[in-house]
Amino acid sequence: MFFSEFFSKYLCFLMSKKRYTITAALPYANGPLHIGHLAGAYIAADIYARHLRLKGEDVIFVCGSDEHGAAITIKAKKERTTPRKIVNKYNQIIRKSFEQFGIAFDIYHRTSEPIHYETSQEIFNILNDKNAFEIIENEQYYDAKANQFLADRYIIGTCPKCANENAYGDQCEKCGSSLNPTDLINPKSTLTNSTPILKKTKHWFLKLDQQQDAIREWLETTAEKNNWKAHVIGQCKSWLNDGLRPRAMTRDLDWGIPVPANIEGSEGKVLYVWLDAPIGYISATKQLFKEIGEEKFDFAYPQNFSKYLQNKKAEDWRKYWQDEDTTLINFIGKDNIVFHCITFPAILKITEQYILTSNVPANEFMNLEGDKISTSRNWAVWLHEYLEEFPGKEDELRYCLIANMPENKDSEFTWKEYQDRVNNELVATYGNFVNRVVTLIHKYYLGTLDNSFRQTMRDNDTVLSKIISETEQNIANSIEQFKFKDALNELMAFARAGNKFLADTEPWKLVKEDPDKTRSILSIALDWVYALAIFSKPLLPKSADKIFRMLNADVTDNDPFNYQPKKEHINPIVLLFEKITDEQIAVQIDKLQQPKQIQLENSGDKSSPSLPLKSEIQYDDFAKMDIRTGKILEAEKVPKADKLLKLIVDIGIEQRTIVSGIAEHFKPEAIVGQQVLVLVNLAPRKLRGIESNGMILMAEDADGKLHFAQANVNAGMEVR
Ligand code: 2FM
Ligand code: ZN
Repeated sequence: MFFSEFFSKYLCFLMSKKRYTITAALPYANGPLHIGHLAGAYIAADIYARHLRLKGEDVIFVCGSDEHGAAITIKAKKERTTPRKIVNKYNQIIRKSFEQFGIAFDIYHRTSEPIHYETSQEIFNILNDKNAFEIIENEQYYDAKANQFLADRYIIGTCPKCANENAYGDQCEKCGSSLNPTDLINPKSTLTNSTPILKKTKHWFLKLDQQQDAIREWLETTAEKNNWKAHVIGQCKSWLNDGLRPRAMTRDLDWGIPVPANIEGSEGKVLYVWLDAPIGYISATKQLFKEIGEEKFDFAYPQNFSKYLQNKKAEDWRKYWQDEDTTLINFIGKDNIVFHCITFPAILKITEQYILTSNVPANEFMNLEGDKISTSRNWAVWLHEYLEEFPGKEDELRYCLIANMPENKDSEFTWKEYQDRVNNELVATYGNFVNRVVTLIHKYYLGTLDNSFRQTMRDNDTVLSKIISETEQNIANSIEQFKFKDALNELMAFARAGNKFLADTEPWKLVKEDPDKTRSILSIALDWVYALAIFSKPLLPKSADKIFRMLNADVTDNDPFNYQPKKEHINPIVLLFEKITDEQIAVQIDKLQQPKQIQLENSGDKSSPSLPLKSEIQYDDFAKMDIRTGKILEAEKVPKADKLLKLIVDIGIEQRTIVSGIAEHFKPEAIVGQQVLVLVNLAPRKLRGIESNGMILMAEDADGKLHFAQANVNAGMEVR
């Protein structure tokens, strides 16, 4: 009976259709995506959007590239190219990664598109008309050598709150404080490393102080009503308790959206990136409906879940942003909280035309192998590389990132855990269950269980219908409360219960004694697999699709409770997951230890990168390092590690074994006798089972090529 029960439930869903606008933070188009991005916002948003679509709700899911601000201009300077080229390049890379990974946006837009300029300028004008700005002339840091005002991110100095010496002009990434550039102690321009001077300029400041009470009231009510995450409320309250201050919404930059020309004194000024970026959600929505209205939207594209968008017109974008019946949910990482919970709502509120967010279920950060993910240190698992190195294994990564999602505190990704989870959970439990059921049906019934028999079985079943109801409800509740880890646990419990059902009923034994009963058991098991696929659609969508294909069900059908195989027989088995070997894991760990090259790859620009200087240190910091001259005596490749050489190095007082990640740059025989500089008091570290006692110092050129740092003297001298 459960199928008919579910079908009526489904109809009920359809009747009570709710409208949702789901956004995911627009990533800066200044570099590729890594697993931290996925775990921080995109997988959560994708699960949520897929779940609601499956339920029959009216959903749009929008995202796009954030193409303005200092993040882009700094990258352009580093790559000695233009901001335009940077955003074109990374927009492509990011878009492709999202597509391949299966993040199912309805549109992936760009903030450099004309519709976004128009929308942002229109909102700026509304704010201006509503007297939301005050023009303040103040002194800002100016780099006299580079002849330009410095964006906050171009200034580095000591954080006044935690003494971090690498705090940026707008934020300290160590303690999370939001800063003004003039708060920094000992500020330096990252363009020229000179001390910037203060110079007068005027800007449009949003009078956030005047919004303090309204925002507090709205936030407290909304957060309580919708059960916001504690860490999100915590950050907002701390901002509000500090007191909101006017915040500059314009910048002196030559890259960005111009302040509307009708506004006096606007020449040379552009909008602050954090004003235009969230407006990007709105312009993406406008573009989406414009394309649908003009019949340019590709409804056939597998990534588009467009059933709900059919027959819409360009003007329908308004329903998703201006109708009080719409629920707006913003998925972001925790570093974006203030902009989404205070600044953007304040802006929308002032316009009196837009709805405000219902929830901002921000995730915290995901670390990697015991350290913070860092783009500049290349301490990251890059999505485009993963997709190349583990083709077809999108759900394996997705599974691990969900299981470890930093929902309420920072979490950690390790390759070992990835291997364990794939081998012991996806292969041993999930894959094994599907595999056994499909294999047995092929073996005993040549892949055919006739449908009328199956319907009779369903109508008499009680075991499976009960567990399906419970699982369906629990997964839905968890996802709707942004508890994605719990939803995944439910899914796996359902797969485990399927395995137990097989173990208890032992169809492989029973088949000899009671073929009819075996047939009923396998019929139930087949429905179990189908239900597993449905429950997997939001969580493991690629695996769900593979099961649908095996079961001859309609992959694109979003109706969850009406299994109608296209043909009587099921298709041959397709292996869902395979074991990850120790070798695959070792390769990834080795790769993490390699010198950084990511910034230069694909750049097509071979000139020397102008890396910003690191912050000042004291002599004592330097004196801790024991660097000596040395000579390589022996060199050999480390077996099964493409990048590592094992070296025996004479450092004067003794010979050291050092494992170095230079195998792709030098042949072992070519470097025997090479003079080197060695950091000899670096703590020993095991690499591929070999203890490495020290580090060879290398210089890296703009092509990413390595050169030995050397002193042309005998081994054993101290470098000071
Ligand atoms: O932190 C970031 O990557 C920003 N580009 C996020 C912007 S979110 C939204 F406002 F667009
Ligand atoms: Zn700090």
